[in-house]
Amino acid sequence: MPEYTDILTETHGRVGLVRLNRPKAMNALRSQLLAELLDALRAFDADDAIGAMVITGSERAFSAGADIKEMADATAVDLMNRGLSDGWHRISAIRKPIIAAVSGFALGGGCELALLCDLIVASETAQFGQPEITIGVIPGAGGTQRLTRILGKALAMEMVLNNRFLKADEALQHGLVNRVVPVESYLDEALKLAGEIAARAPVAVRLGKEAINKAYELSLAEGLAAEQRAFYLLFSTEDQKEGMSAFVEKRVPVWQGR
Ligand code: CAA
Repeated sequence: MPEYTDILTETHGRVGLVRLNRPKAMNALRSQLLAELLDALRAFDADDAIGAMVITGSERAFSAGADIKEMADATAVDLMNRGLSDGWHRISAIRKPIIAAVSGFALGGGCELALLCDLIVASETAQFGQPEITIGVIPGAGGTQRLTRILGKALAMEMVLNNRFLKADEALQHGLVNRVVPVESYLDEALKLAGEIAARAPVAVRLGKEAINKAYELSLAEGLAAEQRAFYLLFSTEDQKEGMSAFVEKRVPVWQGR
């Protein structure tokens, strides 16, 4: 991995971990940080030794959102030219599963970054919010769309129009996060979950992620057709033969990722 200033990267077995590392700025997502994050995720995505990724912040803040100081004087054209939305889109195009390990504030673009991930493990202190309305704008990295699909219109309206925060237990109740654990263990729990997924058949994991994400884009008929093609495709893999033989022979399968 290259030298980064705004993030730290580590590997834990087959899991690639990215720590957002601007603690003094509550991990505000300036362009430099987003570029480094994308670069690190892409490197892990291309590495056969990695099966899943975790993104985390600090205990106090996963991320307080886009960097307001960097954005304050920008014009619409500046923002278009900086290509921020391309960056978000490219993160959502990462093929391996990404787990957000969220503690403290996940606000604005920080909440949207967590929503771009495939699973969320939250600490009891996590708070999700879209406070853009308090600074005269609206979410710009998917919040209005992804929150509405997950939470429904009523709660999404409150969050986006009236700065309503969701605490960890509410986020769990509404299906925004997978699990809530004590603050001491949220990162370990996320790494454990990522490790379990990373140990599964890699091509099936990739196609499973792709198929579920298609549910947000396609009609039911198109989504079912896409799922069926992916299912058939898996029968061309060695891992399908291995998985089913291992079941019949009552042994543990050994995955090749082919
Ligand atoms: N951008 C830039 N700097 C930020 C920041 C942000 N989003 N959030 C916090 N910081 C900085 C603060 O300016 C402060 O820096 P200084 O010490 O240099 O003054 C430092 O982080 C610590 O923050 P606070 O002193 O405010 O800490 P707090 O504990 O009192 O409050 C907070 C924490 C509630 C997260 C508060 O900082 C806050 O409300 N932050 C802004 C949240 C926000 O509005 N996010 C939306 C951004 S817009 C967006 O994300 C658009 C999009 O959809 C892509």
